[in-house]
Amino acid sequence: MKLPKPLISSEDLARRVGELAIEIENDYATGDRADDDPLVCIGVLTGSVFFLVDLLEQIERLPTRIDFFQTSSYRGGTSPGEVRILKDVGTSVRGRDVLLVEDIVDTGYTLRTILDLLRFRGARSVRLCALLDKSSARQVEVPIAYKGFEIDDLFVVGYGLDYNGLYRNLDYIGVYDGEVEESEDRA
Ligand code: IMP
Repeated sequence: MKLPKPLISSEDLARRVGELAIEIENDYATGDRADDDPLVCIGVLTGSVFFLVDLLEQIERLPTRIDFFQTSSYRGGTSPGEVRILKDVGTSVRGRDVLLVEDIVDTGYTLRTILDLLRFRGARSVRLCALLDKSSARQVEVPIAYKGFEIDDLFVVGYGLDYNGLYRNLDYIGVYDGEVEESEDRA
């Protein structure tokens, strides 16, 4: 297997994830937050898993709950923006502060759909924490409260991100230099 060319090293990922954890903790751990008012942290499977684990391991001053959505969408196909929820969260978000944790925001369709759904369900607040922002590819606006890195419009893999299910286990983010074919993506 040819290894993708490094874009963000594991050291840079670790440093930035640590900085984001401090920012999030400072913003939400005001006073003594009660255990029955946890920050509900929701990842989007599967790509966000490495990021979510590393981030939450460093958030110690806050009661948290962890849950996941799984979505799929068509990349470059005939129905852009059609995002399907394959797995819903089991946690009620009504009246809760929700932190949505995502690996990458590309067109924005996935996050726009999920943000709207969480607001509709009555979350007290919903903020987005995204490791990577490919803002030049954006089709719909999504506000990113906590952002790891801005990247160019490249197809990247590693640290949870895949191409056809491969490369998720790399400890760095690299650029996939093969042809990216039109496909149904499972985030
Ligand atoms: P969006 O709905 O277009 O913003 O895309 C979100 C999902 O597409 C992400 O959660 C990823 O699963 C996938 N995706 C977008 N860009 C990349 C990439 O460069 N590498 C791997 N997956 C990507």
